Amino acid sequence: MKRISIVGTGSYLPEKILSNYDIEKFLDTSDEWIYTRTGIKQRRIAENGLATSDLCKVACERAMEMAGVKAENIDLIVLATITPDTHCPAGANWLEAKLKCKNAVSFDITAACTGFIFALHVAVHLIKSGANKTALVVAGEIMSRVVNWKERESCILWGDGAGACVITDSKDGAEILSTHIHTDGENGDTLLMPGGGSKTTPISHESVDRGLHYLKMIEANKSFKVAVNRFAEACEEAVRFNNVKMEDIDLIVPHQANLRIIQGMAKKLNFPMEKVYLTIEKYGNISSATVPIALDEAVRDGTIKKGNLVLLTAFGGGLTWGSSLIRW
Ligand code: UT7
Repeated sequence: MKRISIVGTGSYLPEKILSNYDIEKFLDTSDEWIYTRTGIKQRRIAENGLATSDLCKVACERAMEMAGVKAENIDLIVLATITPDTHCPAGANWLEAKLKCKNAVSFDITAACTGFIFALHVAVHLIKSGANKTALVVAGEIMSRVVNWKERESCILWGDGAGACVITDSKDGAEILSTHIHTDGENGDTLLMPGGGSKTTPISHESVDRGLHYLKMIEANKSFKVAVNRFAEACEEAVRFNNVKMEDIDLIVPHQANLRIIQGMAKKLNFPMEKVYLTIEKYGNISSATVPIALDEAVRDGTIKKGNLVLLTAFGGGLTWGSSLIRW
């Protein structure tokens, strides 16, 4: 079996910061409510004129620089996003052009907040099969353009950004020991963008007036409980599959939807919060991009050290959930 490794990571966060105090100025909410219910203090917002592929481009360039890999050596780009530049062509196609990855095939994956783990799973198996050699696995979102800024129970959660890694079959780098992905289509209507697809097209004044093009969360507190269970299940699956114990895990890098969800997961797993990497306070929920951004930061700030066992886990719309265990 080929050993597939992460040989570089990168991320990009737009400079503009939107704090809870800024939101207080146009919405009936407070820093106190947002922080105590979610753990979020601020989020980044992409400037007008930037598209998701622009954020992803910088994240990918940083990952390629760390890996020492040139654009012409990339033969696969898998982009996880629910906010592509356009639905056709795929966001990954725009990114491929911007990166000048002339030898790459590129496509998008839609798996909401679990998108990065889905993209990693697909890329790992394509490389294992011999179909591809070196991939950019990237996730990027401009959530600020698809949330309804009048809907206080939802808009306060989201932010913009991108994260990426270069993976290849190599004896060097961090070994990807496993990836596991799951879906539950029957319960997918709790987190959805109702408009813009074949169900509601053509897009009309009426559908826009009704806000159908915005991301909607139905019974968010119900998906809160499901999220805690699915996060924990995904971690347990990775640990079981690799024949290790939770005590052997040096760091969990979870999707950051809500600090209380992460705390619930840690409690369920009897896992210390000190070994859980957090970015939620400063970035909020960046859907698929949250995990690779946190991973890149943990690599670059020295939290992740050579030899560490690092567990990625996510849950999101679809419903989708999954995990990946990596030996750094
Ligand atoms: O990425 C993975 C997918 N993400 C999720 O699954 C999200 C999971 N859900 C959550 O993170 C939480 O459910 C929320 C943060 C969305 C909401 O927290 P909650 O503790 O479940 O609050 P709630 O929905 O039960 O609302 C409590 C109260 C309500 O008022 P009443 O009915 O008790 O009078 C809301 O109207 O808080 C009110 N409320 C707000 N108040 C101030 C809702 N949003 C706000 C707000 N500011 N922004």
